[in-house]
Amino acid sequence: MDGNGRWATQRNKYRTSGHKAGVKAVRKTIRQASKLDVKWLTLFAFSSENWSRPKKEVSMLMELFTRALKKEVPELHDNGVRLNFIGDLSRFSEGLRKRIKQVADLTKNNHKMVLTIAVNYGGRWDILQASKKLAELIQNQQVAIESITEEQFSQYLSMSDIPSPDLLIRTGGEQRISNFLLWQMAYTELLFSSVLWPDFDEECLEQAVHTYQQRERRFGKTPIQIKEENNA
Ligand code: IPE
Ligand code: MG
Repeated sequence: MDGNGRWATQRNKYRTSGHKAGVKAVRKTIRQASKLDVKWLTLFAFSSENWSRPKKEVSMLMELFTRALKKEVPELHDNGVRLNFIGDLSRFSEGLRKRIKQVADLTKNNHKMVLTIAVNYGGRWDILQASKKLAELIQNQQVAIESITEEQFSQYLSMSDIPSPDLLIRTGGEQRISNFLLWQMAYTELLFSSVLWPDFDEECLEQAVHTYQQRERRFGKTPIQIKEENNA
C-alpha cells in the first residue's frame, strides 16, 4: 500500500492525513475483497525499513494502527474474517503485542477470509528466521540436512498455513517488491498501479482481479501444455 505521503502532499496536507485516508482505503479494499470471495488478503502495512522514517511519522503510524485494531475488529469478526499478523512483533510495545494476540485469538475460528497484516515485516527477515529455526533443529539432531525440501523449509516461514499469493498489487507507481514476501512470491503475478493508495477503491480492486484473470500462469511449462491442461 504505497502513496499515502504523496497523496497528502498533492493536497497540501501533512503526510499524516494521507495515512488516515489510507486506512479508509484499507476498509474499502477488505470489504470488496470479501465480496469478491477472496480467501486470503495480505496487506503490507509497515516494513522493517519504515522505522527509519521521522520519529513523529512512525509514532503516528503506530497510533493509527492501534486505533484501527480497536475500531475495525468488531465488524471484521462479525463478517467472518480471521486476522493474522506477520513480522517481527518484538519491537512493538507490550500493549500493542497483547492486543495483536487478542485479536488473532478472537478471530481464529473465522473462515470467510484470512486477512494477514504484515507489520515490521521483511522478506529477508522471514527467510532468516526460518533458517535459524531449522538450524536449531539440525543442531539438536531433530532434522537431517539431506531431508530438507522446499516444502519443509516453507513450514518455518511466516505464511506457512497460507498459500503463496496469486497476485501482488503495488500502488503508488513504484515497480519494486521492497522486501515483501520474497520466498512466497516466486510465482506471483505482479501488478503495479500508479493509483496512490488512498485513492484505491472497489473498482481498482475489481480491475486488478480482472487483469489477473487475463494472465496465463505457466509455472515453467509451455503455452501448449497449459492449453491442453485447461481442455482436459
Ligand atoms: C505507504 O505510503 C504507507 C506506509 C509505508 C506506512 P507512503 O507513506 O510510503 O507514501 P509515499 O510513498 O511517501 O507517497
Ligand atoms: Mg512510499
